[in-house]
Amino acid sequence: MGVRIIGTGKAVPKKVLTNEMMSEILDTSDEWIYSRTGIKQRYISTGETNTKLCVDAAKDALKDSGLKGEDIDLIVVATITSDKLTPSTACLVQTEIGAKNSMAFDIVAACSGFVYALDIAVKFIKSNEYKNVLIIGGEVLSKILDWSDRKNAVLFGDGAGAAIVTNDESDYITSINCVSVGEKAHTLTCNSLEIKNLYKKHSDDFSNYLSMDGKEIFKFAIDVIEKSIEKILKEENLRFEDIDYIIPHQANSRMIDTIAKRKNYDRNKFYMNIERYGNTSSASIPIALDEMNKKNLLKDGMKIILIGFGGGLTYGSALVNWKK
Ligand code: COA
Repeated sequence: MGVRIIGTGKAVPKKVLTNEMMSEILDTSDEWIYSRTGIKQRYISTGETNTKLCVDAAKDALKDSGLKGEDIDLIVVATITSDKLTPSTACLVQTEIGAKNSMAFDIVAACSGFVYALDIAVKFIKSNEYKNVLIIGGEVLSKILDWSDRKNAVLFGDGAGAAIVTNDESDYITSINCVSVGEKAHTLTCNSLEIKNLYKKHSDDFSNYLSMDGKEIFKFAIDVIEKSIEKILKEENLRFEDIDYIIPHQANSRMIDTIAKRKNYDRNKFYMNIERYGNTSSASIPIALDEMNKKNLLKDGMKIILIGFGGGLTYGSALVNWKK
């Protein structure tokens, strides 16, 4: 029993926020943002909900796969910015796409969310009880950003990406590996609701904005991207030259420049679109995958490494042997 990706999709809000527009509201500049991160613009919700973006990405992926909502057996949405604490975004997507035969739930693994969801899909399919799984990474990060904090506000964007994973006689997704490093949890956090009740009053220092130690995350990311590539090459008995593309989580192009230089890897094999989207957390890998799929960059037989990393801290990687 094997597993294969048969469709991809994406959705972004209509509003584009460029670095120039950003520099009108914050003490920042296009030069600072672009030279430090590779970002030129990002999409920002003017009311599009996380559910709407996930539904649009899901419909796009269903169309690409040729399946209907009722063919889906499981929906997994990876998000840290769901519209509601309950119901899950996955249940809201289920209704909108008519996936009445599916189980649906959300997972929280921040920017590794899509690879975690892929791992779950692979394992459910290999249990032989599920055939078609819809996995989505969707975020409206703009609602957890402090728009007066230039350190974080410039880095992120909103969007959703999706993929349909199905069973196959051969295995097209291998060396999947997801890791959690809870001891570094404090380096990237965002509070949920405050405890506020009869016995506990509001405290002025409570914030539910995203907070991050950028330098620590930068070091962590470089370390786990390098480790993930090396692990896959070793497990699959491949050389870097055998890999066609790497789709890393789109957090910062300087991370990729550093790795390519340090390991002497061909920089062109790392697919980057952060310039246009910013960091969309769990959505970044499926948005990139969908772009590549729709641009016909992916040919049957190509070997693609996916690598997610982020809050938790978490990271995860997989080798996708592309076959459409
Ligand atoms: N515009 C202008 N100046 C800014 C700025 C902005 N948007 N944000 C920070 N600065 C200033 C700082 O205040 C600081 O000024 P000072 O030297 O006068 O104190 C200076 O720029 C350097 O800040 P620093 O935080 O040291 O920058 P950096 O080179 O570490 O880059 C990041 C910051 C966030 C771009 C970088 O650390 C990073 O990308 N980390 C990884 C973050 C990430 O990807 N997280 C998500 C992972 S899922």
